[in-house]
Amino acid sequence: MPAEWAASALIDEARYFEMYRRSVEEPESFWTEEAKRLDWIKPFTKAKNTSFYEDDFGIRWFEDGTLNLSANCLDRHLATRGDDIAIIWEPDSPTEPNRKITYRDLHAEVCRFANLLKSKGIKRGERVTIYLPMVPEAAVAMLACARIGAIHSIVFAGFSPDALAGRITDCDSRLVVTTDEGLRGGRRVPLKANVDEALKQCSGVETVIVLKRTGADIPMEEGRDFDWASAVAEQSTDCPPEEMNAEDPLFILYTSGSTGKPKGVLHTTGGYAVWASLTHQYVFDYRPGQIYWCAADVGWVTGHSYVVYGPLANGATTVMFEGVPNYPDPSRFWQIVDKYEVEIFYGAPTALRALMREGDEWVHRTSRKSLRVLGSVGEPINPEAWEWYHKVIGEGRCPIVDTWWQTETGGAMITPLPGATPLKPGSASRPMFGVQPALVDNDGNVIEGAADGCLVITDSWPGQMRTVWGDHERFFQTYFSTFKGTYFTGDGCRRDEDGYYWITGRIDDVINVSGHRMGTAEIESALVAHPKVAEAAVVGMPHEIKGQGIYAFVTCNAEVDPDDALRKELVQWVRQEIGPIATPDVIQFAPGLPKTRSGKIMRRILRKIGENDMSNLGDTSTLADPSVVDNLIANRPQLA
Ligand code: PRX
Repeated sequence: MPAEWAASALIDEARYFEMYRRSVEEPESFWTEEAKRLDWIKPFTKAKNTSFYEDDFGIRWFEDGTLNLSANCLDRHLATRGDDIAIIWEPDSPTEPNRKITYRDLHAEVCRFANLLKSKGIKRGERVTIYLPMVPEAAVAMLACARIGAIHSIVFAGFSPDALAGRITDCDSRLVVTTDEGLRGGRRVPLKANVDEALKQCSGVETVIVLKRTGADIPMEEGRDFDWASAVAEQSTDCPPEEMNAEDPLFILYTSGSTGKPKGVLHTTGGYAVWASLTHQYVFDYRPGQIYWCAADVGWVTGHSYVVYGPLANGATTVMFEGVPNYPDPSRFWQIVDKYEVEIFYGAPTALRALMREGDEWVHRTSRKSLRVLGSVGEPINPEAWEWYHKVIGEGRCPIVDTWWQTETGGAMITPLPGATPLKPGSASRPMFGVQPALVDNDGNVIEGAADGCLVITDSWPGQMRTVWGDHERFFQTYFSTFKGTYFTGDGCRRDEDGYYWITGRIDDVINVSGHRMGTAEIESALVAHPKVAEAAVVGMPHEIKGQGIYAFVTCNAEVDPDDALRKELVQWVRQEIGPIATPDVIQFAPGLPKTRSGKIMRRILRKIGENDMSNLGDTSTLADPSVVDNLIANRPQLA
């Protein structure tokens, strides 16, 4: 860490330790103080009221306070920075005009859209599904929901009609917001057509609002589908924000777990807003006036907290990029950095690995001298990619904040703070304020000192999810029943002798493909839904660019003779059932899967075969038919 950095940082190392101590030893006063970063309509009298134990289980923060998050992201900035740029939008193609939207204009657009939602009958507490690509209107729709107290549920625009339909039905949305088509890397994505397809399965949707992005000729259903621009044109720019309770729901975001269908992670207003704002400021050492760019999609939690809510609550200028890192060429990210003089850049290791492979020349064509802080999120960053990010992109000047967190945690949990934390490549380092990590062994015993274990968090923090939409019991069972009295993250982790945390990856049946989180069970059920498939088991495999790839073992029905054509058909099938992010990298046809005598698939063995680590299969003697394993090994496709 360069000395000049520490000298000018918002928080230096001594202050970090002091603030951290207060945050866990005196949470009431710490959080009461930190919550002043927001404007409250009615101040709260108690900051924290939480328990992870079954008999008095509950998570409530700032519970008797009221506020509105859209007012905190917009209205309160108007007097001092109404003419500052809130959102810089960079379109897919560098030759298309960009957009710069001031806080004042964003406020007006949000009010208009909020009034439109009201005119369509959307009330406080109702769910609105947003299926939009990276366009400023995604932020407008989110903030409009927050303004009137509607709960948004964003569905990543890469998901298929089936996946969209499942999410619309689960939270019972009556209104869907979409666009005619999306644009990514020069390719058109038929979003409205996907909505039409999805709505054949969901009878409850009454209204679809369609933003024109490409101007494609798309069918509009009379009485149901409305053009965004003409519908908002008649709406007023005055829409008083609803007074929301701190614990009123803000949004639902579906994420994958190890079992069953995706869960609707529910975040509430006050605690989430404090957490998004606080972490955005401290993790990125953010100062007013800086240009900040988080390259995540609003369809994921990183986009919620660090493209929209965190930066806008802090009055920042947030860059929103519609496209992909390598279009039109692998310089694009760094061209955008130069174009807007971005000071803080936050991206995913998978993109860095892909760009690293293209060679340094693409980077050297750009200056990047504006960069001060670099962030990483979504998956472990391997030391090689870390070094490249640090040396080639940041030219050794910029601290890298490797932020570990989850959809469930609302914001960064374990992360360096620039200038306060000496960096170790590949380590997420130390806990954020209020976060109390611990490592436990498989029996739930807490392990002290330098060790490997399951990562749990022993007490609540404000940004924590509050429930699984429609299934509070599942919430408790998934996160708080494995190791009593703690939040179970699902991640494995090592702590070194300096107390630094090194996330080693998921220890459940969740895989992380290019930073996209997926349940192996979801991919399996998509495969099994194919008429020729009898059984399927999916595991992760190491992948140079994506971090993890998808390895599927498939047993076909007896009369089927599996061949390459079927393999292609199945890949296509999964893309259609879930979306392109779930495309299997390998499909191995298997006459049988390794099962115990009670019929349980031994995934441990399949994982090892997926990893091509045959030396380490462990005990196979309890299998009903151990010869199945030899067959799988003999027929494992030779991968490049
Ligand atoms: O396994 C961890 C990995 O991503 C999981 C959470 O995925 P999701 O809910 O989609 O949220 C991603 C954006 C925060 C975690 O359980 N993960 C996330 N960040 C890191 C990470 N693994 C290692 N290092 C990280 N910085």
